[in-house]
Amino acid sequence: MKGMMSRLSHTLQRAVPTVAKSLHSGSHISSSVASSAKHAVRPLTSEDIYARELKYGAHNYHPLPVALEKGEGIYVWDVEGRRYYDFLSSYSAVNQGHCHPKIIAALTTQASRLTLTSRAFYNDILGTYEEYITTLFGYDKVLPMNTGVEGGETACKLARKWAYSVKGVPKYKAKILFATGNFWGRTMAAISSSADPSSYDGFGPFMPGFELIPYNDIPALERALQDENVAAFMVEPIQGEAGVVVPDPGYLTKVRELCTRHNVLFIADEVQTGLARTGRRLAVDYESVRPDLVVLGKALSGGVYPVSAVLCDDEVMLTIKPGEHGSTYGGNPLACSVAIAALEVLEEEKLAENADKMGQLLRAELMKLPNDIVTMVRGKGLLNAIVIKETKEYDAWRVCLRLRDNGLLAKPTHGDIIRFAPPLIIKEDEVRECVDIIQRTILSF
Ligand SMILES: Cc1ncc(COP(=O)(O)O)c(C=O)c1O
Repeated sequence: MKGMMSRLSHTLQRAVPTVAKSLHSGSHISSSVASSAKHAVRPLTSEDIYARELKYGAHNYHPLPVALEKGEGIYVWDVEGRRYYDFLSSYSAVNQGHCHPKIIAALTTQASRLTLTSRAFYNDILGTYEEYITTLFGYDKVLPMNTGVEGGETACKLARKWAYSVKGVPKYKAKILFATGNFWGRTMAAISSSADPSSYDGFGPFMPGFELIPYNDIPALERALQDENVAAFMVEPIQGEAGVVVPDPGYLTKVRELCTRHNVLFIADEVQTGLARTGRRLAVDYESVRPDLVVLGKALSGGVYPVSAVLCDDEVMLTIKPGEHGSTYGGNPLACSVAIAALEVLEEEKLAENADKMGQLLRAELMKLPNDIVTMVRGKGLLNAIVIKETKEYDAWRVCLRLRDNGLLAKPTHGDIIRFAPPLIIKEDEVRECVDIIQRTILSF
């Protein structure tokens, strides 16, 4: 493996001067090509890395210009060796910190024993994982998938199947409600429920049977639930991609009450908010609410491997029969070993408690920023955002570039919002140092 990696990185390093040549013909980088046969190949620079991705990769992302090669705990390093605080945590997938030793040990041990059996056969880890995760979260069963969006798709399929076989909705009339501002991925189903044109525009026709209602609006939910064909309401307890939008206290409690009253499934999309990120094991725990289905992903693997899951009770889960849903990789031994370790780290290191405490400290300090630039601070636990007042001089993108220059990586969203979501292992002195960086950066504008 090690030998293969070094051969691969050698090949990549050799390939770059050619890429750079075609992108910047006549630049000093291309002049090194002529002599590359004679001289040792120089390491990749950040600029080389941007150029290569631009040339060979689809342009479906607009990354902040920083090229990372190493991560450990709350830090990442770029190819020039500069160290940064990671304040994005790979969109909350790295809650346990980069390359957590226990999770990496589970990965490497399992990787040399058995990685994939498909579900055509049993394996010796899947049941251990299923028992562990269902006991931890208090549900009868789990359905394992890979990415977060597959978890959402699975929840929607379960809801439709339940609507026809248990609730008695006429065949193919089932509806699923979503909240405006939701984000649950990029598949056709996920974009069909999106209110964001940059997600859906140009990709129709869309999935039927999906309806949008405003977020944090109980009367709107109550009106929508008058329709007897509604199977489920799928909602994020805090809307992450929308810019860390926190609903009013009591919202989730009322969602639970209304869904129960109307015999509609409450699906909590906890892919981003779950697994200690907001200061509780699940964000719904703040209101002691139990959804009918919980979707998990991201930090379920601690950022080392795509693992997602849907948790629910038998009445819903057993509506899907053999052959009706699945995935080649879902529930594979490698994923299961990694997920058990990732969940154990959250529990053993009490990361929900730490996220709660550090989040309170972070927000209290962020509130002290000048409010003519930072107009709002919001969040729970370590899922936080600030809203930047845009002017000709600065906007969220430019603030993030300067944060990067000062050693902290964060990503802007929707033009004026910056999310602050470090790994949950961050300590008080580190939070204070990061606050200093943020303060210095904001005051420099
Ligand atoms: C709330 C929520 N659900 C689902 C997803 C989709 O997860 P994935 O990108 O792993 O498919 C995301 C991704 O950001 C998310 O924030």
